[in-house]
Amino acid sequence: MNKPTRNEYPIAPALQQRWSPRAFDAKRPLERHQLLSLLEAARWSPSSNNSQPWRFIVAERRNEVAFHTMVSVLAEGNQRWAKDAGALILMAARTLRDDGRVNRYGAHDAGIALACLTVQAIEMGLFVHPMAGFDAQKARAIYAIPDAYEPITVSAVGYYGALEQLDDDLRNRELQPRERLPLSELVYEGRFGHVAEFVRPAASSMEKPL
Ligand SMILES: Cc1cc2nc3c(=O)[nH]c(=O)nc-3n(C[C@H](O)[C@H](O)[C@H](O)COP(=O)(O)O)c2cc1C
Repeated sequence: MNKPTRNEYPIAPALQQRWSPRAFDAKRPLERHQLLSLLEAARWSPSSNNSQPWRFIVAERRNEVAFHTMVSVLAEGNQRWAKDAGALILMAARTLRDDGRVNRYGAHDAGIALACLTVQAIEMGLFVHPMAGFDAQKARAIYAIPDAYEPITVSAVGYYGALEQLDDDLRNRELQPRERLPLSELVYEGRFGHVAEFVRPAASSMEKPL
């Protein structure tokens, strides 16, 4: 199933094709070389001071015990579909610096890395569905994640399966249209809340409620 963007302006084909599916194909685990390309794409992301605060814990589907362990960290609602992924990738970000101060950009930069990984996945015919719905404390304990690192997301990665494999409620969510705020609610100029002239629909007011 495809769920492309309804973009008003041209964007890159991979971004048009990206979405977060739930129906992954459990019969197609990721190959090592695929995982390596995804992680390589993440590795070359930009980061504040080139601090490279991202770390990835990978659970390959072919390694049943490791895969099952990572599924067990997920919220129940996510387990229902993420169990079919070709691999699960927990991303942790270094949020504390050596001097103990907070690195404000740790999670930000890790997010960019995951975005790069996601675009790489699309280019390879794969999908990525990130999840915040997991037990971060449990993950910290199971994987011995140090205090300076924060578990941020677990992402399901894999090939698309079939809509029919989902239970009714999940299938309905899979079929929901993708909604986005218009640019006129997101883009300001001059000061916060003052909609930039170049994204303003002709008939809209200049001010948007905060
Ligand atoms: C940080 C983050 C956490 C998310 N957590 C979950 C989650 O726990 N479960 C889930 O089903 N989707 C989760 N999502 C997916 C979002 O719901 C999804 O990206 C959003 O609805 C937009 O849909 P699209 O990615 O298909 O465009 C998460 C996405 C992000 C970026």
